[in-house]
Amino acid sequence: MFETVKYLIGSVGASGYGSKSTAEQVTENCHDLRSVTALITGATSGIGAETARVLAMRGARLILPARILKAAEEAKARILAESPDSEIVVMALDLSSLSSVRQFVSEFESLHLPLNLLINNAGKFAHDYAISEDGIEMTFATNYLGHFLLTKLLMKKMKETAKITGIQGRIVNVSSGIHSWFSGDLISYLSLITKDKSHYDPTRAYAVSKLANVLHTKALALKLKEMDANVTVNCVHPGIVRTRLTREREGFVTDLVFFLASKLLKTIPQAAATTCYVASHPKLQNVSGKYFSDCNEASPSKLGTNPNEAVRLWSVSEIMISRGSTAVFDHPINGLD
Ligand SMILES: NC(=O)c1ccc[n+]([C@@H]2O[C@H](COP(=O)([O-])OP(=O)(O)OC[C@H]3O[C@@H](n4cnc5c(N)ncnc54)[C@H](OP(=O)(O)O)[C@@H]3O)[C@@H](O)[C@H]2O)c1
Repeated sequence: MFETVKYLIGSVGASGYGSKSTAEQVTENCHDLRSVTALITGATSGIGAETARVLAMRGARLILPARILKAAEEAKARILAESPDSEIVVMALDLSSLSSVRQFVSEFESLHLPLNLLINNAGKFAHDYAISEDGIEMTFATNYLGHFLLTKLLMKKMKETAKITGIQGRIVNVSSGIHSWFSGDLISYLSLITKDKSHYDPTRAYAVSKLANVLHTKALALKLKEMDANVTVNCVHPGIVRTRLTREREGFVTDLVFFLASKLLKTIPQAAATTCYVASHPKLQNVSGKYFSDCNEASPSKLGTNPNEAVRLWSVSEIMISRGSTAVFDHPINGLD
């Protein structure tokens, strides 16, 4: 109750920011991002578009990968209209496809650009059941597995960039408070819905993918430390905001739900604030493996803090990207069950 009141009045936390802070406000103290190259997924609309706009305004060079190049070109044009000196590179990437992720990384590497900041923001809420070309439930494939592979393939570049530039690299995973709606065995549920449509529940599948973002953050923070990389990783809950995320559910009922919840909704500049804060604020130097909400550190669900689940998901993900989904779902693997 107290937390809800704090949220509604926008009371600030230890960071000096709160639920009503905007992306522009939280980046006021880091207005010079001119030596930073930032890759932001899902910047064609919603929270990602605002994140990209504000980071460009603060001087960052942007890499904007998108599955529809025309949409990315339009996003680039909108940013350039406001920040004409921005350097923005638009590239093709469909996160639901592992081969597209590999192709993207190979093209990105051929540009020989540095990489200081990776914002894994793209996401979907899939009302309709679908399986990705790699044989994995589509929400999980897009929101988590594509980003898992993308991050893995870019880690070396980020480590090198941090070493050469002396600027600590940062990875931000955009999760959701909805991750806490899932309890149970993540891998078993994923296996169930990947094999059998009748078990598919869009909200549960979305929650699983967002829990995976939280667990990925936890395991990745340890890996980066082991690699001795001067790179941090954290994850965020942006808050609830009306974007194109609910595009498959447009209509009267959705309008009504958003109307009834209107007092709890953020604006898009407010929803991009936590990402921008975690991506750029000097206070977060050396902070890694944490979960943020309303621009302050917060607690993820109990399952989201379970180190064994984080390691187990990492191992399963490694198998999925190297040997395919059937290696996980059709043949139980020793030590993972
Ligand atoms: N809105 C909320 O209330 C809320 C709450 C908590 C967390 N989040 C999270 O915030 C993030 C941003 O969501 P949003 O609300 O800003 O939604 P949005 O407006 O729908 O933006 C989603 C972005 O992801 C991209 N995307 C979707 N599938 C993709 C794919 N296969 N490959 C590459 N890009 C893909 C979309 O690109 P296209 O233009 O190609 O569709 C779009 O740019 C998501 O991770 C979401 O889960 C949102």
